[in-house]
Amino acid sequence: MSKTYNIASLGGDGTGPEVVVEGVKVMQEAATKYGFKLNFTDYDYGGERYMRTNEVLPPNAADEMRKHDAIFLGAIGHPDVKPGILEKGILLKLRFELDQYINLRPVKLFPGVETPVRGKGPEQIDYVVVRENSGGIYTGTGGVSMKGTEHEVAVQSMVYNYHQVARCLKYAFEYARNHGKKAQGKGKENTLGLVGKTNVLTYVFDLWERTFNEMGEKDFADVRRDYYHVDATCMWMIKSPEWFDVLVTGNMFGDIITDLGAMTQGGMGIAAGGNINPEGVSMFEPIGGSAPKYTGQNVINPLAAICAGAMMLDTLGETEAAANIEKAVAEVTANKLKSLAAGRMGYSTTEVGDLVAEGL
Ligand code: IPM
Ligand code: MG
Repeated sequence: MSKTYNIASLGGDGTGPEVVVEGVKVMQEAATKYGFKLNFTDYDYGGERYMRTNEVLPPNAADEMRKHDAIFLGAIGHPDVKPGILEKGILLKLRFELDQYINLRPVKLFPGVETPVRGKGPEQIDYVVVRENSGGIYTGTGGVSMKGTEHEVAVQSMVYNYHQVARCLKYAFEYARNHGKKAQGKGKENTLGLVGKTNVLTYVFDLWERTFNEMGEKDFADVRRDYYHVDATCMWMIKSPEWFDVLVTGNMFGDIITDLGAMTQGGMGIAAGGNINPEGVSMFEPIGGSAPKYTGQNVINPLAAICAGAMMLDTLGETEAAANIEKAVAEVTANKLKSLAAGRMGYSTTEVGDLVAEGL
């Protein structure tokens, strides 16, 4: 009997459903080729459902998601819904409730893709950011008082406990050991770089840095350790991205640097991410938004969703299928697409999905 995976598919808002269809198309093709089965079940969580029902997520949503082996998400964000409601109520809520404490975001420039970083190519722009995904400012304590007066006070704190920091670092060290540049045959060492701000955030990043060094010395002596301040990281991401291998950082810094990383790899059309609970149910998504103005036009780039699908298969253990999808994507970017931008690819959304599926 071939292995079967049950996947919850959340198209979401705007162009989300269109890119999900292409991701599913490519994954189904890979499943046939590599002899496993994928059962997708659709859920309508998103802005339309919210406006119809006045409910952001049904109360049992997290439990419903737990019945699956993984979640495949399109995009969340609707122009007619106030910013924050859907993002916090759906995306962040699922990340937190399912304790997807890792956000894995590769920054990889595919061949043939134009980067705004002059003089750099696929050899130089090829690293991974491990973003802590369960804490920090995103879940820190906070509140507001005297709102609307000139004495208004607003607080939103960066809060981390040892447990959150340690489990994230352990994942990152293991990831560096198994997928770093040496492990891939691309370098002499596997390196994990901690991105922080130890010169100012002397409590929070002292906790990160101490834990990083203690754990590294004790359990991961084979992984080289580096440290970068977050502002300097932004500089090196443009100036010398080839220095990086695996980076690990807190939630807010990770959010910010991965948008910069996405631009260096050619834009949101190709950047994928995984919200991972190594012991539970993980959720994979293109990291760009719902791009509402392109909805229904068959012009949006589905490659980020297709790459998210590859990450999902990789995490499920279908590593060969995942690698083959990545290879097929690289062939399409190298030989077919004129641009990654919506409407300028030289192909429609569905045609790009077909090209990758055929390339498998
Ligand atoms: C991301 C997004 C989300 C985040 C938003 C939409 C809540 O920016 O996935 O990077 O801040 O994590
Ligand atoms: Mg972001």
